[in-house]
Order: sequence, then structure tokens, then C-alpha cells
Amino acid sequence: MSNLAATLRKFLAPEFVFGAGSRKLAGRYAVNFGARRVLVVSDPGIIAAGWTGEIAALLAEHNVDAEVFSAVTPNPKAEEVMAGAERYDAAGCDVIVSVGGGSVIDCAKGIGIVAANRRHILEFEGIDNVALPSPPLICIPTTAGTSADVSQFAIITDPAERVKIAIISKIVVPDVSLIDPETCMTMDAYLTACTGLDALVHGVEAFVSLASGPVSDLHALQGIRLIHGNLLRVLEQPDDLEARSNMMLGSLHAGLAFSNASLGAVHAMAHSLGGLLDAAHGECNAILLDHVIDFNYPQAEDRFVRIGEAMGMDLHAFTAEGRRKALLDEVRRLKFAAGVRGTLSERNVGRSDVGELARKALADPCIVTNPRRPLARDLEAIYEEAL
Ligand SMILES: [Fe+2]
Repeated sequence: MSNLAATLRKFLAPEFVFGAGSRKLAGRYAVNFGARRVLVVSDPGIIAAGWTGEIAALLAEHNVDAEVFSAVTPNPKAEEVMAGAERYDAAGCDVIVSVGGGSVIDCAKGIGIVAANRRHILEFEGIDNVALPSPPLICIPTTAGTSADVSQFAIITDPAERVKIAIISKIVVPDVSLIDPETCMTMDAYLTACTGLDALVHGVEAFVSLASGPVSDLHALQGIRLIHGNLLRVLEQPDDLEARSNMMLGSLHAGLAFSNASLGAVHAMAHSLGGLLDAAHGECNAILLDHVIDFNYPQAEDRFVRIGEAMGMDLHAFTAEGRRKALLDEVRRLKFAAGVRGTLSERNVGRSDVGELARKALADPCIVTNPRRPLARDLEAIYEEAL
């Protein structure tokens, strides 16, 4: 049985509707879930862009009331989740709708967990620690990146410990995701770059993960292909709906891959950094990506070559070492061209932080599926390279 468990792979995905205008189904889906009063979780930027008000109006057309909760910051904090759960109870809500990026979606997931299980959010850290199902959750993602709208992950920051905790459970997979690339048109260039690179990392880490399988592989490679082929295009032409759609589809593929195959050292180390700095998740990932690929490369050489091919590279003519260098050069070129530049020391990380960062990254559940098992001193060396 233990051999079976080690080799068989299940694949879980929510119901989702992909395409321009899919957000307009929010009211119909809310009614299907029996909603009378929904908690709309959003943030001030998305409200200002007009998306939250549009969704509230669509709900009203279906006689569903909307209670808007927008006290959510990037890297959502445990107390924001608890405040949202209180609001959910106080307003008598029965369904949750998230309108926003990964932070908003993770906060909405946390609110659902607390509303159903009546305990503090930080008590659910780890894999399969959520007992009771959350209320129905409808996601309308507004970034092409985090894929929290299809994943089994919720990442919440514990500010007291300056650490991000991962809650991994199929209970946090949303009930439906309305994946509408039109919502990405209001993202600024840097958010587009950071979230796009996050999605690229999802594809890469899922493909080399120790828990990868044939179905997640298909999604991972297609995600890498689409994101690599469209990230710079969408940065040059932010109003290009076809490029936005390709990015959103790439993010969806990469999200389905990592939700099932899990991630690796880039995310473990980025979670640790994000807890310390409160910096953007995608930015942390992008800074670390090439350094971690370099570390993992010997353990998954064939897989990294296939990643290079998905990025459109012809690596046949290269020597083994040449292939490694070509892939690293391409990843560095892409993130530089996308505008994510600079080092950790420029972001106020010092040599004295490295020990604690490595210790927390080693305790992150994402490290378990990294293709090369790192020691604390390995992670310290990677952080030091990125300083
Ligand atoms: Fe991510």
C-alpha cells in the first residue's frame, strides 16, 4: 500500500468558467448556491477599479445582498481573516464571493474556514487540518498569477512571528472560479510582471516537484509555454485582450499543476521572505527563481531541459553545462525585461537575516516536494547569492 500511495496521483480542480465576461455569471452562481446575503471580500484597489461594485450590482439583479469586506492587505494577516469571519457572522452571510488577487482569495478562504470551524485561523496550519467544509466560495480572480482561485492552498501571514503559514486542504478549493481576463486590464505593469512571474514559478516548481504526475505535467508545461510567450507582450501592450487571455490561461494551467503537484524551494523561501519583509509574493519568487533552479538542476536535469523547450529554446546543440547556463540566462533575461530587478539587500535583507530565513523555509510544507533535499546551509547559501 505504501508503494501505491507513493506512485498514484489524484487530480483535483474546482468547477471554473474561463473567458472574457465570465464574471457576469456571479449572480447566477450565487443563486445556485442558495445565497441570500454574500460576503464580498475585496480590497481598496479593486474597489477603485470598479470591479467590486459591478459584482455587487450583478448580485443585486439576482436579489442577493452584498456585504463588502475590504480590510485586506497584500500578504493577508491572520487578524484580517478573523475580522472578516466576524463580519460574515454579524451580517448573517451564507456565501462568500472574492473579487481580487491572491491575497483577497486567500483571505476569503481563511474567512470560510473560520466561519465553519469556529477556531483561530493559525490553528489550521499544515496539510489536511481543516475538519468542516467552508461555506460556498465563488472566486473572481483579478490577476493572472497566484491561481489561489483553483488551488488547495491558502497562505496567511502571522505578523507576531513574521512568518507565513500554509493551509493545504481540498476544503479550500473554491466551489467555482469565474476566470475573466478582462479583470486583468486594470493591473499596473509591476503587478502584471510580479503575478506573471509567480505563475511561471508555479509551472516550473510543479514540473520538477517530487509529487508531479502525467496530468500535472501537461498543465505545468502548457502554463510555462503560455506565460513565457505572453508576459513581455502584455507588458508592452497592456490593453491587448488576447495577450491578457493567454496570461490568464497560462496562470490557470500552472495553477492546476501546482495545486496537485505542490511546489518547491522557491515558494518555501519566498514565503519565509514574505513573512519577514511583507513584500510582494511574486517579487520574492522572481528574485529567488534562477538561484533555486541552479541549485536543483543536477537533480532534475531532463526536466529542466523540457522546461527550456517549453520556453521555446532549442537546447540540442548545447553541452550539458551549456544547457544549464542557457536556461539560467533565459530566466534572468525574462525577469529583467519584465522589470523585476535588484537584489535582496536592496530590499533591506541583510546577512544577519539569512539564518532565520533558512530555518523558516525549511519548515514550510512546500520544501517537501523540492527535487533536491536542501540542508539549512544550502538555503542560507541561496539567500546569500540573492543578497
Ligand atoms: Fe505563488
